[in-house]
Amino acid sequence: MWILKFVFIILLANSLRLEAAGFRRYSFVVKESSYKKLCETKNILTVNGKFPGPTIEVHKGETIVVDVYNKGKYNISIHWHGVKQPRNPWTDGPEYITQCPIKPGNKFSQKVIFSDEVGTLWWHAHSDWSRATVHGAIIIYPMPGTSYPFPKPQADVPIIIGEWWKEDILKVLDEFVGSGGQPKDSDAYTINGKPGNLYPCSKRDTFKLKVKQGNTYLLRIINAALNEIHFFGVAKHNLTVVGVDASYTKPLTRDYIVISPGQTMDCLLQANQEPGSYYMAATAYVNGIGISFDNTTTTAILKYKRYFGQSTPTSLPTFPSYNDTSAATNFSFSLRSLNSRLYPISVPSKITKRIISTVSVNVFPCLKYQTCEGPNGTRLAASMNNISFVNPSIDILEAYFYQVNGVFGKSFPSFPPLVFNYTADVIPLELEIPTKGTQVKVIEFNSVMEVVFQGTNQVAGLDHPMHLHGFSFYVVGWGFGNFDEAKDPLDYNLIDPQRRSTIIVPKNGWVAIRFKADNPGVWFLHCHYERHLTWGMETVFIVNSGKLRTERVIPPPPDMPPC
Ligand code: C2O
Ligand code: CU
Repeated sequence: MWILKFVFIILLANSLRLEAAGFRRYSFVVKESSYKKLCETKNILTVNGKFPGPTIEVHKGETIVVDVYNKGKYNISIHWHGVKQPRNPWTDGPEYITQCPIKPGNKFSQKVIFSDEVGTLWWHAHSDWSRATVHGAIIIYPMPGTSYPFPKPQADVPIIIGEWWKEDILKVLDEFVGSGGQPKDSDAYTINGKPGNLYPCSKRDTFKLKVKQGNTYLLRIINAALNEIHFFGVAKHNLTVVGVDASYTKPLTRDYIVISPGQTMDCLLQANQEPGSYYMAATAYVNGIGISFDNTTTTAILKYKRYFGQSTPTSLPTFPSYNDTSAATNFSFSLRSLNSRLYPISVPSKITKRIISTVSVNVFPCLKYQTCEGPNGTRLAASMNNISFVNPSIDILEAYFYQVNGVFGKSFPSFPPLVFNYTADVIPLELEIPTKGTQVKVIEFNSVMEVVFQGTNQVAGLDHPMHLHGFSFYVVGWGFGNFDEAKDPLDYNLIDPQRRSTIIVPKNGWVAIRFKADNPGVWFLHCHYERHLTWGMETVFIVNSGKLRTERVIPPPPDMPPC
């Protein structure tokens, strides 16, 4: 009898262990699907046939597993944008940084480990330009039994801003890379995959939100566009920002927001107007001289229940002019962390190391027998600290973990190699040509990092939405002109700076961020403008492991995509 009992106890223990390892699973089948927009039909890459793709809903601190099946024609990888993945860079997703892409016909099971994130994030393809259509929302609710630091909204509404080309997106990418010039402008922006009725053939391809007067809605806004920052607003309604990049903020009420590719913003919308029909809209904010862009407007409709009048709204929200940098910076840098007793933050007041990096658009000379569409027949490029990043042939994480030599170098500079007046109006041509390389920065575990992004006016000064994987950072300072290491740190906000994972470095300016390097692994740092990423505006931080076993990168999963 005691043997039976013993066996039973063992069985019970085993099933409990299974239970504990039984993470919630999602199945992502990457495949082509046909969609009709702007009067034309084309095949796009989707997850589960949906555009935008499925929404992932989790609670703070949960771990899930997403089984990614590549049933498409091309290599692909999927990234969980803004999820820190503590000690688990293996399934972070950027191709040639933490994994080789998943080949057609293959599968990769990706563990997604949530820790302190709460609010809204998103997932997207991190290979070529397929993220144009391969993306979706991640909603992270507070832990069960806890609540929001604001009155509970009546409903959650993901609002995904996207960008649509009539042409196949990989063709757009090919032409862009082949030409050496700017990419073709998109034909439309979209809200939740729909352009809205200001575009041809789009009257019914408009996202509609029904609201009840008196209710409050939590708009979980995500900018999934490839190449443009956007203004977004709702006619006659305010938006109250309560969170950015899955961190709570002090409420900030405005009549429009500014959101860059990669950023997310949680906004409360009170349905407190006359019952009616109102436009929501998004349009590009671009401040670069001589840069063409899609200047159209995507709309959605907010319609009050029990309103029976004209369903097409009459007025659009009012936005600043398309190039109004002071409006954009005023909004972006008015955001503050909530930092309350219940939701404290810890901003590092002392740092171990400061890295200053330029973020620049550059040019390369045109190759022989080629024509290049960059300025004066050159080929456009981009760099950080004058290095235009080149993808390695196998991913950096595996090369690092298995100590494969010759894949990357460790000499990403901590200071710009060329010192000049970065934000001068005219910059000598010889300063515009960067070097090519695959250089990373190695950072000691637990060091307190400050990174200053210094925009330059090389070729064309413009904004850069810089994104760091594996961390959230505090945006402790920013300014126009050149960063002054002696003076500027004296004005930092070390009390309640916003905490995020993508920050817009304004044209003609700089931004300083701080974070503690407590997440060992290989983490990508890049501009979230897809065209700048293609041009090489990126680098990699390798955070060494700590002394304890629990401070090391966890072992790789068995089904890593082969290189
Ligand atoms: Cu949205 Cu490398 O990320
Ligand atoms: Cu950029």
